[in-house]
Amino acid sequence: MTGTSTTHQQPQLWVGVSLFDGTRTHDEPMTLVVADGRVTQIVPSSEQPVQWEKDWNVAGRGGVVTPGLIDCHTHLVFGGNRASEFEQRLEGVSYADIAAQGGGILSTVNATRAASEDDLFASAKPRLEALMADGVTTVEIKSGYGLSLEHERKMLRVARRLGQELPVDIVTTFLGAHALPPEYKGRADDYIALVCDQMIPALAEEHLIDAVDVFCENIAFTIEQCERVFQTAHQYDLPVKGHVEQLSNQHGSELCARYKALSVDHIEWLDEAGIQAIKRSGTVATLLPGAFYTLRDTHMPPIEKLRKAGIPMAIATDANPGSSPIFQLSLMLNMACTLFWLTPTEALQGVTKHAAQALGLSDTHGTLAEGRAAAFCHWQIDHPAELAYSVQPNRLLHRVYNGETTS
Ligand code: NIG
Ligand code: FE
Repeated sequence: MTGTSTTHQQPQLWVGVSLFDGTRTHDEPMTLVVADGRVTQIVPSSEQPVQWEKDWNVAGRGGVVTPGLIDCHTHLVFGGNRASEFEQRLEGVSYADIAAQGGGILSTVNATRAASEDDLFASAKPRLEALMADGVTTVEIKSGYGLSLEHERKMLRVARRLGQELPVDIVTTFLGAHALPPEYKGRADDYIALVCDQMIPALAEEHLIDAVDVFCENIAFTIEQCERVFQTAHQYDLPVKGHVEQLSNQHGSELCARYKALSVDHIEWLDEAGIQAIKRSGTVATLLPGAFYTLRDTHMPPIEKLRKAGIPMAIATDANPGSSPIFQLSLMLNMACTLFWLTPTEALQGVTKHAAQALGLSDTHGTLAEGRAAAFCHWQIDHPAELAYSVQPNRLLHRVYNGETTS
């Protein structure tokens, strides 16, 4: 086990931990062995051979271990900020009204277009580092504030570069169909043609896209327009997902289900037909309590119906400058329980196993099992439920990514 090669490090032990493995919390204290970047063994500490602690390095003792957290829905790369719109909303102007007046997403589009690739990298890096300091080891980042080939490409290149320069897995999602750029006002079909005929082909060719997303809403794109985007995505073998049923029920979830979407996201207005459709297609329901909270939404996603239907629920920050300027995934655990009545276990599954499923990464991410790459968090708490119960930074003792302890 210790090996002869000098490049192999001595195995590391995590002893007597309360283990949430992505699915459940084990009943008794567990010991994990990490060697060569992998979790090689997980055993009850009571059955741990005495020799292990003599021969190997104890990296952590006690506390809680969870898989590395996964933020499966973010808009982390953007220019500027929207603090002034926050003030407008406090004066009673609605998110939809701000969008209709050319603010909202479009004001971020202007700031993002004006920013250089280096500017965007520099502003996104501390946001990503905030997520990482909170235990996140995988982050999905969407484009969608460029709305032209040049500027969407710029955003996606920044997302890829973040993953190359920081110890975190980045998944990119192309969200060209996020909003209608001002130069296409009144010509939404022409813009969708640009998305389908030029942007997706070019960006797929450059390997900048892992999935394709749309915003299906009465202030964004119609079912027919979103379907065109999905058809193109499938031509390029790219999986799809959707911002659907956020402000109204446009039946976007049924469209997503027809295209075997990885996830449907927001879903405050999801109805029974939508639930049955995503159940059949194996699509994850991604809940975004930060947007619900920020927009002071009152229309709850149909949690109990999703639960009864056995649909996996993921939870994400939706980190973005408008509807969810929140860069703390652990806070979403608390909000998912307090606002949406999830149990702490459901919430934790939502940022581990089910978040991995929402990114098509179930085979490699989101659960702790023997043989898996070592991506996990060691927390200074006694029980995993405490992560959802209290809103408290600085509980992360160690963050392990590819077997390396990074904090
Ligand atoms: O996921 N719903 C659409 N898009 C984003 C909001 C982006 C913004 O306001 O800048 C969301 O909430
Ligand atoms: Fe979003």
